[in-house]
Amino acid sequence: MLSLNNAFEDAELTAFDRRCREGLHVEQVDYAGELKFDGLAISLRYEYGSLVRAATRGDGASGEDVTANIKTIRAIPLKLSGDNIPAVLEVRGEVFMYLKDFQKMNAQAAAQGEKEFANPRNAAAGAVRQLDSNIAAQRPLSFFAYGLGEVKDWPANSEKPQTHYELLLTLKSWGFPVASQTRCVQGVDGLTQFHAQIANERDALPYDIDGVVYKVNDLQLQTQLGFVTREPRWAVAHKFPAQEEMTQVLDIDVQVGRTGKLTPVAKLAPVFVGGVTVTNATLHNEDEARRKDVRIGDTVIVRDRKSVV
Ligand code: IVH
Repeated sequence: MLSLNNAFEDAELTAFDRRCREGLHVEQVDYAGELKFDGLAISLRYEYGSLVRAATRGDGASGEDVTANIKTIRAIPLKLSGDNIPAVLEVRGEVFMYLKDFQKMNAQAAAQGEKEFANPRNAAAGAVRQLDSNIAAQRPLSFFAYGLGEVKDWPANSEKPQTHYELLLTLKSWGFPVASQTRCVQGVDGLTQFHAQIANERDALPYDIDGVVYKVNDLQLQTQLGFVTREPRWAVAHKFPAQEEMTQVLDIDVQVGRTGKLTPVAKLAPVFVGGVTVTNATLHNEDEARRKDVRIGDTVIVRDRKSVV
């Protein structure tokens, strides 16, 4: 399975668009802009329309066989519906957890005195790798498809998708969930507008994303551009600022409020999260501080906004 180059700055994005235009000898390139889901990459292999194997990305060349666990995910079709399904079809996508499912699962874990997961990505990755598929089946996992791997014998008379956008529609018609935010945009201005629009919508999404991905929309042009090692020349990830970072607890202060209320506050080694530098985190009260068992010298995860329970 492949990995993506990252563009962190506008200049890198402009360079990506220039390389595509120069490689294709065109003035303007049409792109598909889609979400970069923050979960676990999975490859699903279908033979004659039935799911036969699911694997993680691993080192790119070989991953873990996680078929039994993946088969417990309701969003992933065991049999494909519709016509013109290739004899061999590898579908690539991301397994993830909706924030509300993650919060519910962690609340249950806390109530039973079990360990909570740090974030939905770890929870999803842990569940997929579970050795016991009965336990995996109880984890509320979901899936979005975003591409293809190997395809053999596309039926000759079928309407083969010509663009990435059409490919997503085809995957949807076969029964795969695809995200509705994917857009066709033109040129580098289209890319930056898409990035800004999704950055605005990010907090309202019911799952985590860590950026957007741009792909040359025309599948033939993708083939023409090809790959450098395992990275496609026709796609790039444009990340958002991190919403989560690890840091160290330097000290724990107890603040006294006007009414005499005591609030323990963790003093943190400064971290840049969600666009601000964080140096303090409230531990709310003594009970909460004991429940979280936060101590000086601990490594903690500071997380901005929505999936904090
Ligand atoms: S495409 C051809 N599309 O990002 C490039 N990847 O380094 C192959 N990811 O862990 C990947 N959302 O699981 C692609 N819409 C998306 C994605 C996406 C998330 C992840 C992928 C992998 C990493 C790629």
